[in-house]
Amino acid sequence: MTGRLIVVSNRIPMGDVPSGGLVVAIHEALSERGGLWIGAHPDVVDEATEEFADLPSNGYEKKAFRITEEDHQTHYLGYANSVLWPLCHHRADLLAMEPSYFPGYVALNERVARMIARIAEPEDMIWVQDYHFLPLAQALRKEGVTGRIGLFLHIPFPHAGDLDALSERELFLDWFAAFDMVGLQTQADVARCLETFRSAGKGEMMLDGRLKVGKRKFDVLSLPIGIDAERFAEMATEHDGRSLLNLSPREDIIIGVDRLDYSKGLPGRFRGFGRFLDMSEEGDRRVSLLQIAPPTREDVAAYAEIRDELESLSGKINGAHTELDWTPIRYIHRPVPRDTLAALYRVSRIGLVTPLADGMNLVAKEYVAAQDPEDPGVLVLSRTAGAAEQMEEALLINPYDADDIARAIARGLAMPLEERRERHKALLEGVMRDNVSAWCEACLGWLERPRRPTHEDA
Ligand code: G6P
Repeated sequence: MTGRLIVVSNRIPMGDVPSGGLVVAIHEALSERGGLWIGAHPDVVDEATEEFADLPSNGYEKKAFRITEEDHQTHYLGYANSVLWPLCHHRADLLAMEPSYFPGYVALNERVARMIARIAEPEDMIWVQDYHFLPLAQALRKEGVTGRIGLFLHIPFPHAGDLDALSERELFLDWFAAFDMVGLQTQADVARCLETFRSAGKGEMMLDGRLKVGKRKFDVLSLPIGIDAERFAEMATEHDGRSLLNLSPREDIIIGVDRLDYSKGLPGRFRGFGRFLDMSEEGDRRVSLLQIAPPTREDVAAYAEIRDELESLSGKINGAHTELDWTPIRYIHRPVPRDTLAALYRVSRIGLVTPLADGMNLVAKEYVAAQDPEDPGVLVLSRTAGAAEQMEEALLINPYDADDIARAIARGLAMPLEERRERHKALLEGVMRDNVSAWCEACLGWLERPRRPTHEDA
């Protein structure tokens, strides 16, 4: 393969060294191979031309397409985050459909496709990230792009029943079929994807494992994303988390870190912690929940609601249990730097990760990487998070059941050192092995494979 790697993602870091899951992964892949990163410019303009803005970068190129306020409303806040996000996270009840969303979403994808088609060479390989660009391959094909195009969907593939809530259900499947490779997080996602095509009478499984839709054949693969585990483990030793928190020697911490999103199961987590407090005997030690929940997508109504719900719940639980010298829930509604987070994970006795639905959940992996292997904390993880497929040695819980969460907290806090070490060792091996470079290599390896004919008659 002689062409360039072109990565397309909605978020693109403006600075030189990005921080955070997906952008770190892409930065690494491009630093190693060179290539071009395309993403949305964060500042809106009155009129979006079809010219890329060059962004400063080292070792590879970065270009941003401009978006208008209307693009922001219909594409990002609209179809991507008020339709596709709830749909894929099993919350069809939260779908907010406006007539302008779908045309706005498609129009932005078509505009970006035209811009990419003008600069892409036939040998270039295009790797599209996430649900903001599902129609991009179809739009690029219409512009005459014949090179290889892959998709990685970071969020869950929707349940077949939920897809019925989408008026554009047929189109949704055709969008996927225009890629050469569709990477999904888990085996369960792959199973849902294949079943959806089958039940729509659209797909046919080929003997070589590819799915054939009309004349196109493409791979649907489970390629779970990882973290830069070694770097994260190092970072966790750079600061002392206990002094950052000003913890008294009697206090233990349970930590939760999530964007304030309704898919993360935060009210259930608070209720579970509340039950744990109710059932705990008064003892020497005090256990606090440190919940870091930075704001996200606040202009979407469902996000404002979850914020109100959480504030009233933490108020209620703190009201019932706070003492003169101790508050059980410390709730931080702000982003916290990654090196601080790493240090906080390391001193937390439990990593509490309770999403109702999640593509992967990298917090679970970061928590494990940050632990001291000699005296590790315990990961409590939803069985409904993608990460649960790989992280069986965590204490797996049902995030809808507050008592289950409360019992897992109690069990984690009481777990003997030997068992904690064994579980952590197995988890750490997986997190280190299936790291972000392994993910990149696996995805790009599939995309680069010698080309097989994608048309029946080729
Ligand atoms: C999830 C999505 C990403 C997205 C991130 C942050 O991880 O899979 O595509 O970038 O959330 O959300 P935001 O809307 O702030 O980009």
